[in-house]
Amino acid sequence: MDRIEIGPKTFVVVATGAGISAESGLATFRGAGGLWEGHRVEEVASPEGFAADAQLVWRFYSERRKSALAVEPNAGHLALAKLEEKLGDRFLLATQNVDGLHRRAGSKRVIAIHGELFESRCAQCFEPPFEDKQTYLEPPMPKCQVCGMALRPNIVWFGEALDHRHLRQVREAFEDHRGDCVFIAIGTSGQVYPAAGFVDQARSFGAKTWLVDLDPAHEFAARFHHVVRGKSGEVLPQLFG
Ligand SMILES: NC(=O)c1ccc[n+]([C@@H]2O[C@H](COP(=O)([O-])OP(=O)(O)OC[C@H]3O[C@@H](n4cnc5c(N)ncnc54)[C@H](O)[C@@H]3O)[C@@H](O)[C@H]2O)c1
Ligand SMILES: [Zn+2]
Repeated sequence: MDRIEIGPKTFVVVATGAGISAESGLATFRGAGGLWEGHRVEEVASPEGFAADAQLVWRFYSERRKSALAVEPNAGHLALAKLEEKLGDRFLLATQNVDGLHRRAGSKRVIAIHGELFESRCAQCFEPPFEDKQTYLEPPMPKCQVCGMALRPNIVWFGEALDHRHLRQVREAFEDHRGDCVFIAIGTSGQVYPAAGFVDQARSFGAKTWLVDLDPAHEFAARFHHVVRGKSGEVLPQLFG
């Protein structure tokens, strides 16, 4: 199998999607047909959905909190944590996943660009998000301690903007390590922007680009220098030389 050459100056940027958590037992959205109990994912993961039925939305995220807590990081998550241990500050992991499995596997330089399942925040005021492992399956719905308005999961929903500081961090990693950078996308179908555009950004700054995916979408795969087809839990432990 191919191996990624990592030299003494190489900076590695990794972007992961739902596929890396599949072997832990968490469903990918598109794999599940994009439905949850007959509801379209957009209905339970959008500001409009929350305004229409906060309880339904909290039920969805409460169940996701339960499922994420019931599973363990897999060999793919662990391989990335091990790589980071070797590289230290020459490593950055931007994940689209909200499940917290990278941190549980030991990854430290993680930016959760789509938010964190185990955090909540006020839907109205500017109090910072806080850690929250509770489930809210029944009324009453949780309220902000400061202003009394509804709490929501700290997730970037459909139609919402990503934190521009996160995107800047990724771009700066490519920019600052021009010529010495390897970008690896793992388990992502490349349908959700801006993460799907990282590969183009990486290439524009001269990075070598790799895609690891069980069933890569043809047009997305065509934008990478190298494509490794397979399960991330099997591929990643062997990929870094
Ligand atoms: N675990 C999570 O936190 C979670 C789960 C589902 C969806 N989401 C969210 O849904 C959105 C979906 O986009 P996405 O691109 O991340 O996921 P996606 O569902 O669109 O694509 C998943 C990709 O993973 C691949 N895959 C499946 N099993 C794999 C395995 N064992 N090893 C390697 N690849 C595998 C599939 O071929 C597919 O290309 C994201 O925004 C993400 O935030 C998150
Ligand atoms: Zn508030």
